[in-house]
Amino acid sequence: MKDYKEFKNRRDRLATRIGDNVAIVANAKESIRNKDCHYPFRSDSTFHYLSGFPEPETVVMIFGGKNPKSIIFCQPKDELKEVWNGFIYGPKQASKEFLFDEAYPLTEAHKLIPKFLKSKSVFLLPSSKIDNILSPKWFEENNKLREDLSEILDDMRVVKNDFEVNLMRKSADIAANAHIQAMKLTRPHKYEYEIEGEILNQFFKGGARNPAYSSIVASGANGCTLHYVENDSQMKDGDLLLIDAGCEVGSYASDITRTFPVSGKFSSAQKAIYQLVLFAQKAAIEKVKAENFFDDPHKEALKIIINGLIDLDILIGSRDEVYEKELYKEFFMHRTSHWLGLDVHDVGKYSSKNNPSVAVKFTEGNVLTIEPGCYIRPSDNVPKEFWGIGVRIEDDVLVTPDGHDVLSKNAPKEINELEAIIGTSSA
Ligand code: GLY
Ligand code: MN
Ligand code: MN
Repeated sequence: MKDYKEFKNRRDRLATRIGDNVAIVANAKESIRNKDCHYPFRSDSTFHYLSGFPEPETVVMIFGGKNPKSIIFCQPKDELKEVWNGFIYGPKQASKEFLFDEAYPLTEAHKLIPKFLKSKSVFLLPSSKIDNILSPKWFEENNKLREDLSEILDDMRVVKNDFEVNLMRKSADIAANAHIQAMKLTRPHKYEYEIEGEILNQFFKGGARNPAYSSIVASGANGCTLHYVENDSQMKDGDLLLIDAGCEVGSYASDITRTFPVSGKFSSAQKAIYQLVLFAQKAAIEKVKAENFFDDPHKEALKIIINGLIDLDILIGSRDEVYEKELYKEFFMHRTSHWLGLDVHDVGKYSSKNNPSVAVKFTEGNVLTIEPGCYIRPSDNVPKEFWGIGVRIEDDVLVTPDGHDVLSKNAPKEINELEAIIGTSSA
């Protein structure tokens, strides 16, 4: 039996933050893929964060105030259903194992939830899935206030404790190993999806049953399409291969990108862009430490990439002009970082509530990605040897008491390491 104390602790912490009021979260529904086939079920991240309970549509109520408690509404036991679809906890076992104070069948939720609501305010997520029980009209008629739960929960989720960091380390280790195996298997004439298959194979072998997002395996100019997921091109000698792939462990994501030559050897143009992005990425990582601002890594990476692209005659103009007119966005059009956690683009504020132009500061326990890139599409203004080069290098970085720790450090990124490993598997 797993230990669900961590999830109870989170509910207890939330209870202290909502005063005498109540918070309600509901799990996602199953999604139909076609006819009577469903997509693999994935719990809503916030619901998972507060319960660890794996069944769809379950509802959890958390009461603050002097006598905090939490209640779960879940599917009743049903032996016939269980024969077809597998185990159902049922309220009794759910409350025992997942440490709820009370439990009721989901079929009672309609009746009981409004009855249990004595407080003035009800904290719900903006995309609350219980509008069928507590509609806007219900709030009006019952003179209750609907408050935003996401502000409190996002602040909790953006700081990871040891329990969460351990899962994120495992997730990053498995994904880093998958990248290494992908490098070993890469060679000209294979198809991108063969490499994607190996990545998924390594996720499963490592015990991560889900990718954190659709893997990007993009050879040649496909690497210049940021969200390329077709993964169906044949890889050519002379192409770079950009792989952006991460998995989930305990629902926590890793998010790693590596770029390397299909043939095992960088051309001089590829090497120039790769070295530039690598230099920018390492410098950006150095900016990750408590009390620095969230946008410090991006500023650093951007400065280096602008200077580098001007030196390579890819960007024309003075540094100030390129910066002010945002000419760099033709080649580096995304931000350097996002929070990482239960969602790959995790919750958490990026700027101060009172002043949106001021970034938040890093604090111990934050996990973010550092992922600068350069994507050079064919253009008469750019020297031809750079056309079709797309490079991104992405690591997952934890803010620690004395700086940072790169969780994904096992995935090689130095040119000599990459050139030594590519294509070394005979499979
Ligand atoms: N894999 C999604 C991202 O890098 O943001
Ligand atoms: Mn990312
Ligand atoms: Mn990524």
